[in-house]
Amino acid sequence: MATTWLATGSAPAKLCFHNSSKSAARGGFSWILCSATNPRSLTISAAATSAEHTECAAVPREQVEVIRSLNGWVAENMLPLLAPVESSWQPHDFLPCSAAAGAGGVSEAEALASFTEGVAQLRAGAAGVPDDVLVCLVGNMVTEEALPTYQTMGNRSEGASDDTGVSSLPWAQWLRGWTAEENRHGDLLNRYLYLSGRVDMRQVETTVHHLLRNGMEMLMPSSPYHSVIYGAFQERATFISHGHTGRLAGQHGDQALAKICGAIAADERRHEAGYSRAAARLFEVDPDGMVRALAHVMRGKVTMPGLLMSDGRDAACGDGTLFERFSAVAERVGVYTARDYGDLVEHFVRRWRVAELRGLSGEGRRAQEYVCGLPPKVRRLAELAHKRAARSEARPVQFSWIFDRPVMPG
Ligand SMILES: [Fe+2]
Ligand SMILES: [Fe+2]
Repeated sequence: MATTWLATGSAPAKLCFHNSSKSAARGGFSWILCSATNPRSLTISAAATSAEHTECAAVPREQVEVIRSLNGWVAENMLPLLAPVESSWQPHDFLPCSAAAGAGGVSEAEALASFTEGVAQLRAGAAGVPDDVLVCLVGNMVTEEALPTYQTMGNRSEGASDDTGVSSLPWAQWLRGWTAEENRHGDLLNRYLYLSGRVDMRQVETTVHHLLRNGMEMLMPSSPYHSVIYGAFQERATFISHGHTGRLAGQHGDQALAKICGAIAADERRHEAGYSRAAARLFEVDPDGMVRALAHVMRGKVTMPGLLMSDGRDAACGDGTLFERFSAVAERVGVYTARDYGDLVEHFVRRWRVAELRGLSGEGRRAQEYVCGLPPKVRRLAELAHKRAARSEARPVQFSWIFDRPVMPG
């Protein structure tokens, strides 16, 4: 997850959830499909995002108790999904060895020559990656690097947090283990980009700094039901976006980057399995609470973890926020699209058998009907946006990450 709701995770959704004044007056939220060709049409901006939108409603005590009661289940069904440290990959496995001399039998000169050769090979592969794919890679990396924010979010989840920092409760072990695996994603992408010589590393680092300072907003940060649902969505979204980025890198001749993205995507898939299983279990234990939470998450303003990214130059750019420009490029390149989002919604509605839930309250039935009707609506919006994008004339947008070279948005 970087996207514990969807944290973790990182891929930008092209579907924005917008609290329009009209729908808000009815107490509801509307979905706005962001036009890929007109970033200005995006309805969520850093300036518009504020704490006033975040609901801090108390989490029902019975939901916290349900979560606590699942600790044994988490130990049996989620913790085994975390890879043992001894058999886990580490970022250095994918990068030129920086200290071959330390292994013995190799002189410092030989080690340096080997490292230099490795860097040259990495740069030769990276040279073929187009700017638009590079922008997507940087956006994904920046989002991964804001991991402290996502772990903090996870610790706000009542009943599933790590209250002591060393808690032996399975939910806490999952959160720490998940964080440790996620930490490698930002590290690896960061080092690859640094060695590639293709990006303005200082601008990329400045963006990470801003994103960590700006934070992220969640609809109900203390609700464990919301967090588990968000986690499942976000992990699947990041699996898709890293996977697509790796495929594109391979097509352009960078097999090293393809491997890197593939390893990260495989992690995201395991994480998705964890959150998705947890949500499925919660649907069995408390179907009414979960379907209402799912509808709430879907109706609400879903904040993507990288939404508040900034390179410090957004105001001078005049082409929308950095996240909007990044999302538009990701849509056009095919790293993460509105169609992907539609697939995601449909996948989870099926995976959690939402249509088959029985014994619901009136509110639960309304939530069920709403959620089951979403996939076709999302698809229609995606198609409309696609057609609109095909009709309109896009103009290039600049990214300081790549020395202000222009790339075409969606
Ligand atoms: Fe993940
Ligand atoms: Fe990740």
